[in-house]
Formats: sequence, C-alpha cells, structure tokens
Amino acid sequence: MQRVLDPRVSGWAMILAWTVACAGGGVTRERFGTTDCGEAVSVFTLKNAHGMALRVTDYGGIILTLLVPDKNGRLDDVVLGYDSLTGYLRSSPYFGALIGRYGNRIAHGRFTLDGKTYTLATNNGPNHLHGGLRGFDKVVWDVAPFEHPDSVGLVLRYTSPNDEEGYPGTLRTTVTYTLTSANELVFDYSATTDRATPVNLTQHSYFNLAGDGKGDILGHVVTLNADRFTPVDSTLIPTGELKSVAGTPFDFRKPTPIGARIDQDDVQLRYGPGYDHNFVLNKSGDGHEPTFAARVYEPATGRVMEIYTTEPGLQFYSGNFLDGTLHGKKGVVYRRRYGFAMETQHFPDSPNKPGFPSTILRPAEQYRSRTIYKFAVQP
Ligand code: BGC
Repeated sequence: MQRVLDPRVSGWAMILAWTVACAGGGVTRERFGTTDCGEAVSVFTLKNAHGMALRVTDYGGIILTLLVPDKNGRLDDVVLGYDSLTGYLRSSPYFGALIGRYGNRIAHGRFTLDGKTYTLATNNGPNHLHGGLRGFDKVVWDVAPFEHPDSVGLVLRYTSPNDEEGYPGTLRTTVTYTLTSANELVFDYSATTDRATPVNLTQHSYFNLAGDGKGDILGHVVTLNADRFTPVDSTLIPTGELKSVAGTPFDFRKPTPIGARIDQDDVQLRYGPGYDHNFVLNKSGDGHEPTFAARVYEPATGRVMEIYTTEPGLQFYSGNFLDGTLHGKKGVVYRRRYGFAMETQHFPDSPNKPGFPSTILRPAEQYRSRTIYKFAVQP
C-alpha cells in the first residue's frame, strides 16, 4: 500500500509514527511513491539512541530529513527538501542527493581520456553538472539496511551502464550511509569500473542548522581548513589556479559568519553571487583517514557540524541560486541563501585540468572515499 506524506503532520510526528524503535535506535522501511517510469520508491528511517533521526529514500539516495538536537535537546530537521516524492521528481536543485558520476562541473561537457574525446550533456549553461540529465540523484538505488550495536545504516548500490550519460565503462557503485551513536553521519563511497572513467561522488545535502525554513544561513559561523581555493570563470569552471585565501573573503581559517563578507566587491563573489567555490583542503597523514575539513556553528541553537574527509576538496555553496520559487517541506519558501552545502569532492573540471588531483578510475583499481558529518552542540 502506498503511503503518502501528509503535510499536516509534522516531520517529527511522522518519524515517531514510523520508527519501530528498539531502545537504542533502528531502521524501518515504508513506501514513498512511484517514479514517472513506474518504479516503486521507499523511504528508510534510521534513528540513534540520542534521538538523531535520518530519513533517506532509495530515489537518488536523497536525505529527506535529518533531526539533530540543539543545546537544549530540542530536535529540528536541519536539511532542506520536500515532503513528497513528487517535489523531487519535478524540480530539485539536488536537495539531499547522492551525486555521480561526477559531482560538480566538467567544462563544455567534454573531456579527453586515453586519446578519446567523450561528450556529456551540458545541463548547466555551457557545462556539465552533477552527472548530467539523469545522474545518480535520479536513479533508484538498491538499498540494504543494517543495524550494529553502535550504528544503523544503509548500503546503497547502483550499477551505471557503459555510456550512461556519455561516460565510459560500467561503474559499480556502493555507498554506505551510517548513523552512529556518537551523532555522526558517515558516508563511505566505493566503485569499480571495467573501462577508465572519471568518478567524483559526493552528497548534496543543503543545511540550515537553525532548522529548515528558519531564515537564511548568513549567521552561521564557518571554519574551513583550507589555505587555498580554486578561483573560477563566470561559468563557475576553475581557472586552474590554486589561489591563497589570505586577504580575501575566502579566508575561513578563523571562524567567520558566512554573511560577514559575502557581498564584498570581489570578482569571485559576483558569479553566484556568493560562495560557490571549491576549497583546497589542507591535508596531513597518508590520505586514507578522514582529516578535518570544516566546522559550522549556528549561534542561536548551539548546533555544530564538523566535517572530516579523505577528499582533497570541499565545494562550499551558499545557496545563491535559491530564489524563492521552490516551496519545500511544510510549504516553506526557499529564498536566496536559506541553506548551504558543503560537498566533499575532487576539484571541479579535474578531467580537463592535468594539474589537479586525478579523478580517473581504471579497471583493477578501487575508488574509495569517506566523509563524516559530526554533530554536536556548543553552549
Ligand atoms: C553547485 C551550484 C549549483 C548547486 C545546485 C552546487 O554544487 O556548485 O552552482 O547551483 O550545486 O545545482
């Protein structure tokens, strides 16, 4: 039986109704709807012992809801999105979605690999964005839930056929979402291919740590562990330069409100307008363990999100293209900068930038990447 979300019921009440919680947490599965092609879509609810709850659909691996406690223990949904599958099917700027094969932009939808030039869809002005017209955010993933003593989670699998969206090779992708009892949300990505292909997987949740629909995110205080960023052209393609953040509005090495310099007269801030840039993360260690990338603090609620990753880059997007036309959960109007995304990934347009870390996966290699969003409170 198909269950349709009732917008009159609050997200939290729905979670309570749906989660057959064992004492520490649990995972449940419900019907969410049907795609335009008639595929059945489910929603999974995961809960930990501290009340943190996550709702994920197998359509695009989309995170629909993320309930996080504030400094007084109050739970709020901190991600943007829609109440029903229809919203995601009709028009979504990648709210909460799993992105592949290539997160971010590839200039002119073209790259040359091993002497052959490949053409991809140009779905963002002159460029290819987030995997194309039907990227990993628009396919139904095969999902297997799991429960361990200190965590609950989902294993999502998708096999992308050769030539899908113009990319070479059959790509077998596995992504694991884990919610731990330490209030962490862990993303483990892995993939193999039978022909060389670019791969750059990421998660595209939009956050508002004050709570979804509670206004803009300009007061959130951001720290980024990045001495450099990749300046872009007017179509948001990196120029290839790795530029020092020193003395620019891109210097988040010390905690700084997003809004403090976002409207400064800086050519790089004109395109969004605002932040929509890849930061070159400072790295230590052997690259196999996630290292500190970012911290975001919301002063009114005390909520803190820390990001650790094995990836070399982080796209900080300040929700500039939200323009009040999308009506999200409970009818909230998403205005400019009502949410931000922090997408851990390789640098944009790497397939055309020999100086950037490679995103090419070859047969016999394994793509692996891990990102942790850790939630806490600061009084
Ligand atoms: C991009 C933005 C884009 C947004 C939604 C972000 O990853 O950097 O430019 O508007 O995704 O598509």
